[in-house]
This record gives sequence, C-alpha cells and structure tokens, in this order.
Amino acid sequence: MTKETISIRIARPEDEAVLSALIAASYATLEDGRYDLSQLAKAQELMSKANPKLLASGTYFIAEIDGVAGACGGWTFEKPGSDEVEDGVAHIRHLATHPDYLRRGLARMLIERCLTEARAHGARLMRTQSTLPAERFYASAGFSRVGPIEVAMGPGVLLPAIEMELLL
Ligand SMILES: CC(C)(COP(=O)(O)OP(=O)(O)OC[C@H]1O[C@@H](n2cnc3c(N)ncnc32)[C@H](O)[C@@H]1OP(=O)(O)O)[C@@H](O)C(=O)NCCC(=O)NCCS
Repeated sequence: MTKETISIRIARPEDEAVLSALIAASYATLEDGRYDLSQLAKAQELMSKANPKLLASGTYFIAEIDGVAGACGGWTFEKPGSDEVEDGVAHIRHLATHPDYLRRGLARMLIERCLTEARAHGARLMRTQSTLPAERFYASAGFSRVGPIEVAMGPGVLLPAIEMELLL
C-alpha cells in the first residue's frame, strides 16, 4: 500500500465550495447529544459555510490528503464575529475536519501551523471558542479552559461554547 501524502496549503477564495461542503459535513457531527438540537440547527445554518473573509486572509489553511481537502482552519488577530483586535492576542478560526478523516492528526497539524505563524507575527496568546465536543481536542493541543461562553451566531442565535487559551 502506498503511503498517503498529507500537506497544508493556504486556502484561496476559489476553495469556497469545497470548504463549505467540508465544514457542513463536519458541523453535522455536532449532533452528538451535547447541544439542544433546535438551537444547534439554527447555528448550523449560519456557520456551515466557508467564510470568504477568512479564505482571502492568507492565514486560513487546508490540510490535504493526497490532494483531497480533509480539514481546514486558521487564525486571525480579529476576534471572531468582529473587527476588534487586542494587542498580542490571536484567535483560532473555523476549524473543521471532514468526518471521513477524523483522528488522523489533520486538525493538530493545522493548529501547529497557526500557533507557529501567530507567534512569528507577534501574538503572545492564542484563544479559541471551542465547540463543546472539541474541548478535549484543544486540551490535547495544550489549551487551557477559561470558561463557558455563548457565541452569537446571528440574531437571536446563541451557541454554548468553551473559551480556551494557550500562551505562545
Ligand atoms: C475537533 C476536530 C476539529 C478534531 O479534528 P481531528 O482532525 O479529528 O483531530 P486530530 O486527529 O488532529 O486529533 C489530535 C488529538 O486531539 C484529541 N482528540 C481529537 N478528537 C477528539 C475527540 N473527539 N475526543 C477526545 N480527544 C480528541 C486526541 O488526543 C487526538 O490524538 P489521538 O487521535 O492520537 O488520540 C473535529 O472533531 C471536528 O471537526 N469536529 C466538529 C467541528 C468542531 O467542533 N470544530 C471545532 C470548532 S471550535
């Protein structure tokens, strides 16, 4: 059997359709019992598509297995959902692994890339708004739990999440 090649590249605006499908498939796995399903359905509608601004940012990445998109995610200095920037603080953005490629280390590779780049750009702290099921993933990557939060996904749509952070 030939070995798979895993590579990471910067996402581009033309990746929007592929990444929207990947993110929708990934966020569908959040229906694992931890969320209220009607609340989750409304949030999924709003978050299950690639964000054009992130795709154009140069700090949003795709992990490919033999050229096929398996996971995506990135970082910005802007806080999710706003243009607010706090000196030295960076944020993980829109991380998702396709259900066919879970537990192969793709998300960890993306996080490592984000941490390395953010550090090189002067960030001293990385924050993330973790979904409830992703908390153990972030903890395994070294993030500490700050506490529960509610993320505003759109008008009247709040999704419970966990604020986590890692010193760079
Ligand atoms: C969270 C998520 C991105 C992890 O993706 P992944 O590519 O499967 O993660 P990795 O393979 O890089 O995992 C690295 C390590 O994290 C930990 N980990 C990952 N998923 C885990 C889980 N479901 N439960 C417990 N630990 C987990 C493990 O220690 C794992 O190492 P191991 O497989 O050798 O045990 C993925 O489950 C996902 O897309 N979830 C749905 C969307 C979501 O919640 N995104 C996060 C937005 S904040």
